[in-house]
This record gives sequence, structure tokens and C-alpha cells, in this order.
Amino acid sequence: MFRLFSKKSEEVATELTFDSTGAIPKHVAIIMDGNGRWAQKRFLPRVAGHKEGMNTVKTITKYASNLGIKVLTLYAFSTENWKRPDDEVNFLMKLPVDFFDNFVPELVEKNIRVHVMGYLNQLPDFTQDAIARAIEATKNNTGMILNFALNYGSRAEIVTAVQEIAAQVEKGNLLSNEIDEGLLSNHLMTGFFEEELRDPELLVRTSGEERISNFLLWQIAYSEFYFTNELWPDFNEESLERAIASFQSRNRRFGGLSTEKK
Ligand code: FPP
Repeated sequence: MFRLFSKKSEEVATELTFDSTGAIPKHVAIIMDGNGRWAQKRFLPRVAGHKEGMNTVKTITKYASNLGIKVLTLYAFSTENWKRPDDEVNFLMKLPVDFFDNFVPELVEKNIRVHVMGYLNQLPDFTQDAIARAIEATKNNTGMILNFALNYGSRAEIVTAVQEIAAQVEKGNLLSNEIDEGLLSNHLMTGFFEEELRDPELLVRTSGEERISNFLLWQIAYSEFYFTNELWPDFNEESLERAIASFQSRNRRFGGLSTEKK
């Protein structure tokens, strides 16, 4: 007879303490899930959850920057999210406009640079314009990079990278045996970042779901995963500290035997 004990990483982390002088993950990626359920619990329309989720983005962005995180990647809209009702999709497309137009002055003050990755040319013009304005206004900032994944899907990203590389081979500019991990990584959307910042060290998903949902499939090969039952609008500074405390407790071996790579 088997007995199965299920223990989520957050439950283990409650016994851990966050050490602000300890290892802070350079790149943190977050799957911000549970906005709809947060709203439903309050008998509010789903979009009210997204609006509150946007406020959480502001809180977590500021705190991540204060902690010294170098890249914060937030999964805001997937290539699969177009399947949602039109009203919800329209609301989600307007959120970046509201977010950037109101929050850019604070981002500038905090020296935070905005980057956005995804199939941006498929977004409405007003969304693309708001993104372009935020990128332009923050382009000289040298602190944390706030990286939104918008209309992003990891399998599509890998297919696009392979197509670009195949085109180089077709043109005779590249031999197939010259294709290696570094080259593929350069062609992914995270190729924008310097090498040591491309892959998240910590991947967080809120709302109790424990799956990856087509997010950064290549880049998370060695990421530490942290799942929490908290819904995204409820996630706060202490929640991020708990996630990092859990990260600090892990023994990262990268396939080897010791922790020296950390
Ligand atoms: C998942 O919750 C959340 C999303 C698909 C949207 C995420 C967007 C934000 C947090 C708003 C911030 C965005 C910007 C660009 C500032 P869900 O709707 O799947 O929740 P559910 O699983 O409870 O239904």
C-alpha cells in the first residue's frame, strides 16, 4: 500500500527565511495565474482580476528591482490566450496602454528598462504604440529589465529560431554542423539579453497550477521551480521573498555534483 504525501514548494518554504544578503536570482520569470479566480471569488467580472493583477505587477516590479534582480520576465499574454472571449482579449490588449502610460515615470525614476518579447506585430496598433513608447522612454535606463512576454509562445519561438537558422544554411552562410546551443539561444527572443541573463534562475507560477504552459521551454532547462497557491492579485512582497527563500535553499548542481556554479 502506497501513501502519497504532497508538499508544495511554498509549504516547505514557510520553514525557510529569506536572506537579503544571500543569493538573489538574476533572472526571475513569473506565470501570473489566477486573476479570473480572484475576481470570481468576489463575484466580480474576470477583467476586475486582471486590473488588480496589473497593480500586483507594479508592486512586484518595484520590489524585484529593490532586491537587485536583473531581469523580471512576466507572462502577460500567450499565443493561446486569443481563444478567450473577445471582451476579455480586448481588455487584456488595453491593459499595457493603461499600465505603461501611468507607470513609465516610476519606471524611469527607478532606472528600470522595459523590454517586450512575443509576436508583437499581431497585437492591435494601440498596444504596439504603448509598448514602443515605454521602450523608448526607458531605453537609457541601466537597472532591472522588466520583460513582458506578450503574445508569446515558446514552441512558436523555437520554430521561428529554427526557420531563421535554416535560412542561413540555405543561403550557404552556415554549415549544419555549426549549429550549436549558443547559436539557437541567440535566435530565441531572449537572445536580446546578455548570455548570463537569458535563462531564468527561478520560475514562479501562482494559483496552484503546476505546469509550464508553453513558457520559456528552452530557457528553463536548469531553472528552479516555485509553485504557490496564492492567486496573482494576492501575490505581494512577502510572497516574492518566500519564493526567493525557497530558491536560496536549493542545491543547484547543473548536472554536476557540487554547488560551485552558483
Ligand atoms: C492568468 O490568469 C492571467 C492572464 C492571462 C493575464 C495576465 C495579465 C496581467 C496580470 C495584467 C498585467 C499585464 C500587463 C501587460 C501590465 P487567468 O485569467 O488565467 O486566471 P484564472 O486561471 O483564475 O482564470
